[in-house]
Amino acid sequence: MTGSDTAHGRLPAGLPVSFPLVQAGMGGIATPRLAAAVSDAGALGTIALYKLAADSCRAAVVETAALTARPFGVNVIPEVAGDTLLRAQVGAAVQAMPDDRPMVLNSYGLPPAWLTSELEGSRFTLMVQVGTPDDAVRATELGARTVILQGTEAGGHLLGQLPLDELITGTVALNAPAYLVAAGGIADGRRMRRVCELGAEGWLLGTAFVAARESGAHELYKSALIDAGGEGDTVVSDRFEIGWPGRPHRVLRSPVTDSPSPLPSQFIAWTSVAGERHPVPRGSAAAPTTETTGRIDEMARYAGHGCGAVRAVLPAADIVAALRESHAHALAAALPTKESVTHGA
Ligand SMILES: Cc1cc2nc3c(=O)[nH]c(=O)nc-3n(C[C@H](O)[C@H](O)[C@H](O)COP(=O)(O)O)c2cc1C
Repeated sequence: MTGSDTAHGRLPAGLPVSFPLVQAGMGGIATPRLAAAVSDAGALGTIALYKLAADSCRAAVVETAALTARPFGVNVIPEVAGDTLLRAQVGAAVQAMPDDRPMVLNSYGLPPAWLTSELEGSRFTLMVQVGTPDDAVRATELGARTVILQGTEAGGHLLGQLPLDELITGTVALNAPAYLVAAGGIADGRRMRRVCELGAEGWLLGTAFVAARESGAHELYKSALIDAGGEGDTVVSDRFEIGWPGRPHRVLRSPVTDSPSPLPSQFIAWTSVAGERHPVPRGSAAAPTTETTGRIDEMARYAGHGCGAVRAVLPAADIVAALRESHAHALAAALPTKESVTHGA
């Protein structure tokens, strides 16, 4: 592949889109409406299965497939779901998916080895998100054709300890036989161009879509993101461990993250999952959604370094279009001008 192919980004195997941009699976936030709107805009929308039971997974896949005729992704988190639920989720997704389009199974973290055989004969290709170069290689051994490299600039839970540029460079050096998608803090065309110059061929963005009109995020979470000035308003924390222990996460700063010792444990909100109402303890990993009532600003409001670029609640199609335009400008700015060619600059 030539340098200019890489800098333009192209279509990674199994990524059936006109623009190699993937919207992240985000529990409670990456709804069928969001995924469908992103896919309709020419990128790859993704629904998040998180801890949903098989029936709800089936319903989410059917709803998304009815909203868009385009391919979309289905996101699972093996370390949260555990083997039994994961099997049920994947089985439900494969069964519910219309067999007329190529699809993507997007796994956060390395999946169990059995997942590839479960997908055999289905329309799904496997895309795996990792945080180290070694895990990128391992993901390809487990059958991933596309590997998402998550740098520590990312919003949400973190899979490694390397900033994105180092992670890409380290993975390219290992010759991992996969198409590389960059994730973490990406919010404009210049960053998109830069990561492609390093060896990525597409991008996965989460934070940029949280304030989309179609997202499931609570309106106060969206407005906090809009008010955030940039990476200094985010922090890597371990304060939201309930329901997903052992993995640091990048969130918007709040009294919960900034207090020197953990605030007292108590219920601070109520939320609904698949129609059932649940109390939310302070320190829960659950993000505030449109179904949540209570102290939204004390909940886990995941956000990456790119949060400063979120300036309004916009339709997802406008977010994709703005990124496409910003990327085109960044490429045009990188082309040599007539003058620089004439003068050998
Ligand atoms: C609100 C939010 C929720 C997330 N939930 C998930 C999830 O359920 N599954 C997943 O694979 N990744 C999840 N992530 C992480 C993303 O996959 C990705 O690594 C991250 O969004 C990329 O960085 P960015 O947010 O700076 O664009 C989440 C990220 C955010 C911001």
